Amino acid sequence: MSEQGWVVSTSSPGEPHPPDADVDSFAALFRAFLERMTHQVNRAESGFIRELAAHLGAAPAGLPVVSRGYPGYDHANVQVALEALFGGADAVGQLVGLTSQFRRHHSLSELIDMSGHGVPIETGSVDYQRVQVSPTETRPCVQFGVWLIEAGPARMAVLQRGPDRQHGQEGVSLEALTTDEEAAETLFSRLEELMVEHNIFRGQVLSFEGHEFGHGAGPIRFLPRPQVSAEDLVLPAPTLRAVQRQVLGIAEQRSRLRAAGLHLKRGVLLYGPPGTGKTLTMRYLLTRLDDHTAIVLAGASLQFITPACALARLLTPAIVVLEDVDLVAEDRSYHGPQPLLFAVLNEMDGMAEDADVTFLLTTNRAGVLEPALAERPGRVDQAVEIPLPDEAGHQRLLELYARGVQLELADPASILARMRGTTASFVKELVRRSVLAGDGAVRLGDRELHAALDELLDEREAVTRALLGGPARR
Ligand SMILES: Nc1ncnc2c1ncn2[C@@H]1O[C@H](COP(=O)(O)OP(=O)(O)OP(=O)(O)O)[C@@H](O)[C@H]1O
Ligand SMILES: [Mg+2]
Repeated sequence: MSEQGWVVSTSSPGEPHPPDADVDSFAALFRAFLERMTHQVNRAESGFIRELAAHLGAAPAGLPVVSRGYPGYDHANVQVALEALFGGADAVGQLVGLTSQFRRHHSLSELIDMSGHGVPIETGSVDYQRVQVSPTETRPCVQFGVWLIEAGPARMAVLQRGPDRQHGQEGVSLEALTTDEEAAETLFSRLEELMVEHNIFRGQVLSFEGHEFGHGAGPIRFLPRPQVSAEDLVLPAPTLRAVQRQVLGIAEQRSRLRAAGLHLKRGVLLYGPPGTGKTLTMRYLLTRLDDHTAIVLAGASLQFITPACALARLLTPAIVVLEDVDLVAEDRSYHGPQPLLFAVLNEMDGMAEDADVTFLLTTNRAGVLEPALAERPGRVDQAVEIPLPDEAGHQRLLELYARGVQLELADPASILARMRGTTASFVKELVRRSVLAGDGAVRLGDRELHAALDELLDEREAVTRALLGGPARR
């Protein structure tokens, strides 16, 4: 306590002096004490600020801040883009973490301010979070950390904060404390280009969900790409050709169409009875379009049509699948003046003509859609009926689903005759029942198939009768 600067009185002990001088000397002593304490606190407890100041070449307090916010599902995209940025020639970044119980709630300038008031904020370890980047992989992304960046002569410190729903932080935020605002703006623009270039959603099969659970990033879910071969799909040849020409053909001819100034955007509607293979056809197309970003919306998730289209536009070539669109044709719960179907059609219309985006719609109630589509023409270039199988189709389906067993029919015609009017999924179930009813052997003959047909046709009629309100037979 005898350090120099603490004792400011010059009067010698025992010497009398006037009371005013006592007060003055006490005030001076007290002021010096306070200054000393503040200095000690700052020196002891603002290691992070000292590091910041050394990096920025200026006192951090009061420097301008440039901020950006991104949706939570872009967490990995921000991370990948930052890493790409620092891997390039534009900038160098070094990551530091912070220790402070307050860091979750405060902006970078608030933290600097708090540190100036003696709140201890030291450099520490960086917080990471693992984020889903494909159906099977995750990658570590910075949840809380500060990048000390050199971009040419400019110096910046960028606080990266990931989504943290518990603390009310939905999105990803980047806050740049900088000596050069323009350089920070340029850096963010470059970062956003890299986010598109390296986007983790590109080439993936995605769906949107209303809740935040499950594997994915925010409302976006990764789906494994379907593996459906041409042999798995039994359709009349002209039907398959029409679908392939409109969806795969345009994708293959994209440069010719572009050169000729013709539009790439296309809308295809697959319609037909339940169980005829609309969903299977879609899955076959996704298998073939393995370089496309695919976004699959069905039922309630059709409400995500706007972000889904934004993503498709960003990540072309893309296909947006709208499954069972009839289900939303009359849905007025969507917060808009019109049913959700109209929002869907508006989004389809809003997509630029030269965007390499396919819209694939499916429905088993084309009649429900007709008025909406007629009222707003041009959204669907081609409507393809996926019909009930004909006799040749039934035969192919029988062979397809019985490929694991030995199919030996003495009288195939009578089996095929009984299958008339049934769907592909009916045939699949027929084979399954026949195998189950058999003696466990791999041979499937007329007897087994007829027995299963008796059962299934009877059940089908019972269901139909029940639906029509007829008397239940027993
Ligand atoms: N054309 C087909 N070729 C081969 N298998 C088919 C075909 N159609 C349907 N199946 C079989 O039946 C299952 C159900 O078919 P799918 O889901 O594609 O019918 P859908 O037409 O989409 O029916 P819904 O209108 O009810 O959605 C398929 O997973 C497949 O196993
Ligand atoms: Mg379907």
